[in-house]
Amino acid sequence: MDQALNYNYKVVKQFAIATVVWGIVGMLVGVIVAAQLAWPALNLDIPWLTYGRLRPLHTNAVIFAFGVSGLFATSYYVVQRTCQVRLFSDKLAAFTFWGWQAVILSAVITLPMGLTRGKEYAELEWPITILIAVVWVAYATVFFGTLITRKVKHIYVANWFFGGYILAVTLLHVVNGASLPVSAFKSYSAYAGVQDAMIQWWYGHNAVGFILTAGYLGMVYYFIPKQAERPVYSYRLSIVHFWALIFTYMWAGPHHLHYTALPDWTQSLGMVFSLILLAPSWGGMINGIMTLSGAWHKLRTDPILKFMIVSLSFYGMATFEGPMMSIKTVNSLSHYTDWGIAHVHGGALGWVGFITMGSIYYLLPRLSGQQKMWSTKLIDVHFWVATIGIVLYIAAMWIAGVMQGLMWRAVNPDGTLTYTFVEGVKATYPYYVVRVSGGLLYLTGMCLMGYNTYMTLRNRETAVARIPALATKHA
Ligand code: HEM
Ligand code: HEM
Repeated sequence: MDQALNYNYKVVKQFAIATVVWGIVGMLVGVIVAAQLAWPALNLDIPWLTYGRLRPLHTNAVIFAFGVSGLFATSYYVVQRTCQVRLFSDKLAAFTFWGWQAVILSAVITLPMGLTRGKEYAELEWPITILIAVVWVAYATVFFGTLITRKVKHIYVANWFFGGYILAVTLLHVVNGASLPVSAFKSYSAYAGVQDAMIQWWYGHNAVGFILTAGYLGMVYYFIPKQAERPVYSYRLSIVHFWALIFTYMWAGPHHLHYTALPDWTQSLGMVFSLILLAPSWGGMINGIMTLSGAWHKLRTDPILKFMIVSLSFYGMATFEGPMMSIKTVNSLSHYTDWGIAHVHGGALGWVGFITMGSIYYLLPRLSGQQKMWSTKLIDVHFWVATIGIVLYIAAMWIAGVMQGLMWRAVNPDGTLTYTFVEGVKATYPYYVVRVSGGLLYLTGMCLMGYNTYMTLRNRETAVARIPALATKHA
């Protein structure tokens, strides 16, 4: 009997489809906010469509709807395959899917209404925060329950990364989510002043470290060896950099609060840990890329592998840039400017986006009884369109960012500022237009993925109609 019969692929497939759908939605909102920065009138004077409300909708949609759905899909798939056992509970797994969609829908409704806790990446008001906690505990139960009931002794390294991410997010969400409700949709943080800021950025940076990094390294360690048909370059390195990474990330948060009321020694501590973070980050990047040793030629013909390997290059780039930006003197130039936005999107579009897309392209045919995606050519087109989009986006923001930083700090011999603020805004305008075009290309790539996904799944329906046995096999 086919082993696949024993696995719960249904929930994996649901999350994989959700990843594609929410990817398109989140990136569309990204393009809209990018366009609003170039042409502010695009908010049409409708409060729901103003930049301040749509921006958090974008970040929530891409991180929690697109990104985390991808992590749900891949972690559920990988934990079953590497433990050789079905998910611990089908009911709880289904609850995590529908519960998570409810969280996303609540975000889609409340954020444009202006209901927010005002904490970046933790905007959702307290009733939704509680729902997230409940879904997350169910997720942890399914994931760790499956690990505990595994049929193989060894816990494969991808599961360490997924497990680390699930545990850390529980801790971060509970601590930073603590608030005092004053009405059904309004609450105040349980912390005050600089402590509140510190807890927020301890959360914020570790959301980067554990959601946007550790979880995706879980994908790296399963899907790259599979797609390249090569073993992990150094298994020992994967374990060493796992422990180094999770230990170091926890301390780096203060680099978001340089030159603030946070005690100076805390800022320096955050900076030092951020510099150290380069080593475990590059450990993972090099390990992933070197896994291709002896299989480099596959890059010529396999666009899925291209997505995966290029994602690691962007990971290497963002984790070099991040430590540099955490140096206080560099941060005094980069902070508040679009350089930060370039850094974010190098990581988000290049690393998070590409590794997710590659892994979902790997998964979709396998989840629907097909040999491969409907069109490999279209995956290649997606890859190139998106890559050009990223380059346009981040190059424009790097130039704009450094320019803004230099203009803001320029002083005349008499001590007055050389430029007014609005001169900086005017100078930035062309770069915002270039960013819109880059974003449009990236979004176009995602739409191509949507079409390819639809056609692949539709093919499966036709196959099922012809061969009834398939209907039960992949139910
Ligand atoms: C079509 C693609 C995208 C476009 C056009 C886009 C555009 C934007 C824009 C205009 C902003 C606001 C910038 C500002 O405040 O100056 C933003 C912020 C942000 N975006 Fe995107 N985005 C895209 C995709 C993504 C993806 C896929 C992710 C994550 C996986 C992401 C994560 C973020 C984050 C975290 C921020 C907040 C950055 C900060 O506060 O420093 N974006 N995006
Ligand atoms: C060694 C690893 C990294 C370090 C040390 C690091 C460091 C930094 C620094 C110094 C900032 C600017 C803080 C400020 O001036 O306000 C920043 C912002 C940011 N980084 Fe990184 N970074 C790293 C990797 C990454 C990766 C892989 C991503 C993935 C997408 C990422 C996402 C972000 C986001 C979303 C922000 C914006 C936060 C905000 O202000 O809203 N970082 N990072």
